[in-house]
Amino acid sequence: MPRDLAAAAAAVLFFFLLVLFPAEAVPFVVLHGIGDQCANHGVAKFTRLLADWSAADGYCLEIGRGTWDSWVMPLQQQADIICNKVKEMKELSGGYNIVGLSQGNLIGRAVVQYCDDGPPVKNFISLGGPHAGTASVPLCGSGIFCIIVDALIKLEIYSEYVQAHLAPSGYLKIPTDMKDYLEGCRFLPKLNNEIPGERNATYKERFSSLENLVLIMVRLTKSKITFF
Ligand SMILES: *[C@@H]1O[C@H](CO)[C@@H](O)[C@H](O)[C@H]1NC(C)=O
Repeated sequence: MPRDLAAAAAAVLFFFLLVLFPAEAVPFVVLHGIGDQCANHGVAKFTRLLADWSAADGYCLEIGRGTWDSWVMPLQQQADIICNKVKEMKELSGGYNIVGLSQGNLIGRAVVQYCDDGPPVKNFISLGGPHAGTASVPLCGSGIFCIIVDALIKLEIYSEYVQAHLAPSGYLKIPTDMKDYLEGCRFLPKLNNEIPGERNATYKERFSSLENLVLIMVRLTKSKITFF
């Protein structure tokens, strides 16, 4: 996440924290987006600003090898790692808030819905989360893993292989190919209770038990960032 975006995003989220949860120092965890990692300046600054301004403890939770695994580890596996981490953090045992950044929101929702016996998630603040899926894989860029990623994208996106090796294939929803999406996409159809006959009321119940859900839409263009 670029530095100026970190400050802008933290400012927007701070507003929500202040309005929605005054005088409530509930700790929060940050789940970063694809191609990012907690050690990067942007997301580190974001977490720090949000913690300073809201006077709550904030933790950026890392998954595996950071940037690399944000691209190549299936989202269910990423969510399982976070589920184990939040269970081990005694700081969160009284409940916590989740702040998701783009892809991190899907991991966060999976934690809310699937993390059995995890500490309660009180509020969920989603910044630019692809909750209904995306019709194209985000831009990767250059570098060694992007060569791998681009090669995977060119393969059959709903195949077992791609589903197991490219995180964003778990929420790639091609609107003209709903049949293959429902059959082959391993992550989002289940998360969104979209598969007929496989809907699980527990997921709905857990998601509905959040005290507040804040969804912020982010439009990124070359020259400016717009928050909705
Ligand atoms: C629904 O999900 C819960 C929590 O993961 C699980 O315990 C339960 O067995 C699931 N129910 C069905 C019908 O699959």
